[in-house]
Amino acid sequence: MTYLTCTSSILLVLAVVGAAGGAADQPNSGISRRTFGKMADGKLIDLYTLTNKQGMRVAITNYGGIVVSIVAPDRNGKPGDVVLGFDNLDAYLAKEPYFGALIGRYGNRIGNARFKLNGGEYKLPANDGPNSLHGGVQGFDKRVWTAREIRGEHPALELTYLSKDGEEGYPGNLSAKVVYSLTDDNALKIDYTATTDKDTVLNLTNHSYFNLAGEGNGNILKHQIMINAGSFTPIDGTLIPTGELRKVDGTPFDFRQPVSIGARIDADDEQIKYGKGYDHNFVLNRSGASLSLAARVTDPESGRVLEVLTTQPGLQFYTGNFLDGSIHGKGGKPYGRRSAFCLETQHFPDSPNKPSFPSTVLKPGQTYRESTVYRFSVSK
Ligand code: GLA
Repeated sequence: MTYLTCTSSILLVLAVVGAAGGAADQPNSGISRRTFGKMADGKLIDLYTLTNKQGMRVAITNYGGIVVSIVAPDRNGKPGDVVLGFDNLDAYLAKEPYFGALIGRYGNRIGNARFKLNGGEYKLPANDGPNSLHGGVQGFDKRVWTAREIRGEHPALELTYLSKDGEEGYPGNLSAKVVYSLTDDNALKIDYTATTDKDTVLNLTNHSYFNLAGEGNGNILKHQIMINAGSFTPIDGTLIPTGELRKVDGTPFDFRQPVSIGARIDADDEQIKYGKGYDHNFVLNRSGASLSLAARVTDPESGRVLEVLTTQPGLQFYTGNFLDGSIHGKGGKPYGRRSAFCLETQHFPDSPNKPSFPSTVLKPGQTYRESTVYRFSVSK
């Protein structure tokens, strides 16, 4: 008894010292889990928190594979949550604009909610005017994924989901796997893989809404952005690409040198009007098939810098034009117009209907593989 008490006291002391030491100097890196909420059918949903040795934290739920928070330091080392989202699952279950979610089977729009493949026509749910947006009515963002914690060199979370043949109109049983890992250079890496048993189309992405000044902390118009793209895919009035690849030279879409997001966001330009700001796919300048720099965003106030690297050919730059303050996020804060930006790495919208765009077809025997890195740092 005495022995037991003594051992537990020692353990307690060690635990307290460990926790305090971790918070003060080097945080305990790893992964933890708690219940996040309950689905209508009673199924419990979890929230996983990855922590790295710098103390950066990323929380992800297995509902929709949603990145719920990303806590990164500013230039004075002060941590702040830089993504829009909610404190509980119920708010994510209500109608909301894909905050932090995994998007599938098809990121962005497919025109007229249909496409042809191998001579057959596939009809999809039209959930955005005449078009199908972000995988349909019940896309991957609204599915419960199977989670597995990975405790390797870096904390990581593996999420898997089997999308049945015909789900939301898409052919083939599609087995998707997404691994989120947090490295000690403050980078959140997302590795996507998938296989199918029938020819299908696929375009996976993540829909995080960033505000480097901290979520709920005003608009992002003063953030400076560089996008490594010499052209973009102009859209029609329903935001479907026309098929043209247009050079950015002399347009409000030239971000090859850093410029503030707000500088030309209301320019007298047909493309800007269609998007109500930026809501366009950029054709990335790539060097080879490996990860390459797609964009860099800096917030002059906080000093936070976000770099996006990807294996994908395209990047959707969306400036939260549809946010209007009616959604209240974490801590009840209203999320106003342009209070965040999204950098969705992807294949081009409507590729299944645009033979000249890089193909999004996946066949049995092939493995879909794409990776994206969101890396945080600070500038002086
Ligand atoms: C994408 C689209 C936008 C909008 C948002 C969600 O980024 O391109 O038009 O639909 O998703 O609101």
